Amino acid sequence: MSQGKPPQGISTRAVHGGERRQRLGDALTVPIYQTSTYVFRNTAELIDFKEGRIEKGEYGRYGNPTVQAAERKLAELEHADDALLWASGMCAITSVLLTMLRPGQHMIITADVYRRTRQFCDTMLRRWGVEVTVVPPADMAALEAAIQKNTRLLFSESPTNPYLYVVDLERLADIARRHRLRTMIDSTFATPYNQNPLDYGIDLVMHSATKYLGGHNDLLAGVVAGSASLIAALREAQGVLGGITDPHTAYLLLRGLKTFALRMQRHNANGMALARFLESHPKVRRVYYPGLESHPSHAIASRQMRGFGGVVSFEVAGDLRQTSAFIDALRLPYIAPSLGGVESLVEQPALMSYYELTPEERQRLGISDSLVRYAAGIEDTEDVLADVEQALKVCL
Ligand SMILES: Cc1ncc(COP(=O)(O)O)c(C=O)c1O
Repeated sequence: MSQGKPPQGISTRAVHGGERRQRLGDALTVPIYQTSTYVFRNTAELIDFKEGRIEKGEYGRYGNPTVQAAERKLAELEHADDALLWASGMCAITSVLLTMLRPGQHMIITADVYRRTRQFCDTMLRRWGVEVTVVPPADMAALEAAIQKNTRLLFSESPTNPYLYVVDLERLADIARRHRLRTMIDSTFATPYNQNPLDYGIDLVMHSATKYLGGHNDLLAGVVAGSASLIAALREAQGVLGGITDPHTAYLLLRGLKTFALRMQRHNANGMALARFLESHPKVRRVYYPGLESHPSHAIASRQMRGFGGVVSFEVAGDLRQTSAFIDALRLPYIAPSLGGVESLVEQPALMSYYELTPEERQRLGISDSLVRYAAGIEDTEDVLADVEQALKVCL
C-alpha cells in the first residue's frame, strides 16, 4: 500500500489491520514468537535469503513476526507505507534524530514538547555537534525565520505537551518542501484516531505507543511511520542501534489496539466534557484544550483533527500547595505521569515533571504552580466530572 487514505474504517483497521488470516496452528490471535533467532534449513537457503530471493527471519534484532504484525497494523492506522516499533517513545525519537542528523547540521524544535525530548536536543544532540533552535509552539512564522543553510529537520509535537497547541501541518509541510527539509511530528496526544499527519505531507509521524496505542498503562513502546524508503533506512539503523520492541510487548500492543477506536471515542468525550465543565467553574482560572473555542489553536485543530483527545490542562485558583490539595482530594484518577490508558491519571507538572527546577526556571518554561494535567481515561463521564467537582469544592 502506498501512503494515502485506506479503504476501510479505523475501527475495522484497528481490529484486522496488518494481520494475516492464516496463522500458525490456526490460532485466531497473532502468536507471540518468543525467539531470538531463526534457522536456515541449509546453506542454499541462507544464500537465497542473502541474495533476496526469499523473505524470512534471520535474527531478533532485525525483525520478529509478532512485532511485524503490530507494525503493519500501525502503518495502516497512520495511512503509511510502513511503520517501525522501538523500545519506547524516547528510543524512537533519539534513534531517529541520531540517524537523520550529522554534526554541523541544524534542526528546529518547538517549545512545549515532552521534557525529555527537549533535554535530548538541548544537551546530547548539541554535544554531538548538531545545532538546535527552539521556537514557540505552533508559530509557523518564527519557525520559517529560524531556518538556516544547514537546517535538515523540523520537529514538533501536535498537540503539544502540556498546553496542547496544534501545529498547522499543511503549512509546516509546505515550509519544509520549499526549503527541502524533513518534517517529523510527535502525534502521541492526537493518535491516528484524531489526526493523520502524513496526509498533510509530513514525512514521519511518531508516537509514544506507551500511551493511547497500548492504552492500558502496561507497556512501553514507540513507533515511527512514514514512506517505505524512510522506514527502510530507519530499520537498517535500528539493526545497529538495537532499540527493538520485544514480542511480548508487541502482543500486548496488538491486543490493546483491537479496542483502540472504541477507547478513543470515550477519551475524546471525557476530555471535551471535562474541559467544558472546568471552563465554567469559578475556581478554575484557565483551561487549555484545543476543542474549546478559547484555545489559541482551536481553529486549526477543528480543521485538521477529528477529536481532541483525553488530556486537559488547567490552572486552578490556588497556589502550589492548594493545587496539590486539590489533586490529593481527587478520588478517581491516580497521581502518576503518563496518559492515554484506560485509567484516568492526574499530575501537577510543577511537582511531577519539573520538580528539580527552581520556581524561576519553571516560570521561564511557562509551567505555573497551579497547573494541573488531567489525562482522562475511559471511565463514565459523569463520574469523572462529579469527582472533579467534589475536589474543587473541598479544597479551593
Ligand atoms: C508527547 C510524548 N512524546 C514522547 C514521550 C516518550 O515516550 P516513552 O515514555 O514511551 O518513552 C512521551 C512520554 O510521556 C510523550 O508524552
